[in-house]
Amino acid sequence: MKKCLVTGGAGFIGSNLVERLVGLSFEVKVLDDLSSGFLRNLEPFRENIEFIEGDVRDMATLQQVMSEVEVVFHQAAVVSVPQSIEDPMETGMVNDLGTLYVLEAARHNGVRRVVFASSCAVYGDLPQVPKKEDMDTKPLSPYAASKLNGETYARLYGDLYGLETVCLRYFNVYGPRQDPSSPYSGVISIFMDSAARGERPTIYGDGEQYRDFVYVADVVQANLLAAQRENISGVTINVGTGKPVTINSLWRNIAELAGVQGEAKRADFRPGDIRQSVAEISRARELLDYQSYHSLEEGLQFTWEWYRSRSY
Ligand code: NAD
Ligand code: UD1
Repeated sequence: MKKCLVTGGAGFIGSNLVERLVGLSFEVKVLDDLSSGFLRNLEPFRENIEFIEGDVRDMATLQQVMSEVEVVFHQAAVVSVPQSIEDPMETGMVNDLGTLYVLEAARHNGVRRVVFASSCAVYGDLPQVPKKEDMDTKPLSPYAASKLNGETYARLYGDLYGLETVCLRYFNVYGPRQDPSSPYSGVISIFMDSAARGERPTIYGDGEQYRDFVYVADVVQANLLAAQRENISGVTINVGTGKPVTINSLWRNIAELAGVQGEAKRADFRPGDIRQSVAEISRARELLDYQSYHSLEEGLQFTWEWYRSRSY
């Protein structure tokens, strides 16, 4: 892999991936419409990449940026579950249609492989845990449906057109550059931001719902492996840690790290919220030699240092 394209590369996960790719001396292009990403995320390595501001649904732009690209990391999406419930059309247009555009442009430009950022949200609230890739899926939100549709298209493009595709079902990703500014932002970014202000955040429901929180550097590593390993085209792979963490205990950890006193505020459960989510990661181990190298304590510590020291 020499030249690669990261869609959504100005976002949280995308910019961490771009930074790593640049560090490994790959030629990196970034396509992002800056709808939820920021140029400041790319600032430290801006000189070493080609940035194109544009929409993944603009075929002319896609054709241009994909020439000579060997691997596409497709991260661009509307990423919020509640936002997708409020505005299912927008999520469908960006996520469902956007993924189709990316795959179509990849097939016409001789791209070797597309690595697609899917989500554990596809599993829904079916009671079995941990979640395994061959289990039934049951999307509970337009966001989750859009990710499952993206996976289906990815597999089809492999079967029909010989485009190599690998789908990574990320669990709950956290780390530096995750934007806390919207009520829809990821829970760790919101809790970190509250802690940095010395405020108490809100926990929705009883707080005993749990997630598998995976540090962004481990997700980046999974992407690199997914781009390079042979004979894994058409495969869907969980990317998590295998360890459940309740939202209550998450806040206790962050409050302790930040020295914030007091209980979180409480509000009703969010519609579409999944109760239990934790990954079985044996497929990632077998096919990618993947491990989650960062413990929650270590990942939270790095993340806290970033939130504490940021200037915006
Ligand atoms: P993010 O919002 O920081 O990044 C998404 C990026 O896509 C942003 O930079 C945004 O500007 C860009 N984008 C959105 N619509 C676009 C369009 N039409 N054209 C071009 N660019 C567009 O979110 P993130 O957390 O970094 O998520 C990255 C990917 O990982 C997404 O596909 C998301 O669904 C997936 N994912 C994230 C998590 C998580 O916990 N953060 C978990 C599972 C899956
Ligand atoms: C997140 C991702 C989604 C991804 C999915 C995989 C974001 C914005 N969403 O959705 O892209 O596909 O993981 O599982 O990154 N909570 C609170 N207080 C808050 C915010 C959240 O209690 O202020 C609770 C929520 O009710 C939920 C849990 O924390 O139970 C996690 O919420 P959130 O971080 O939004 O993640 P998901 O909905 O799991």
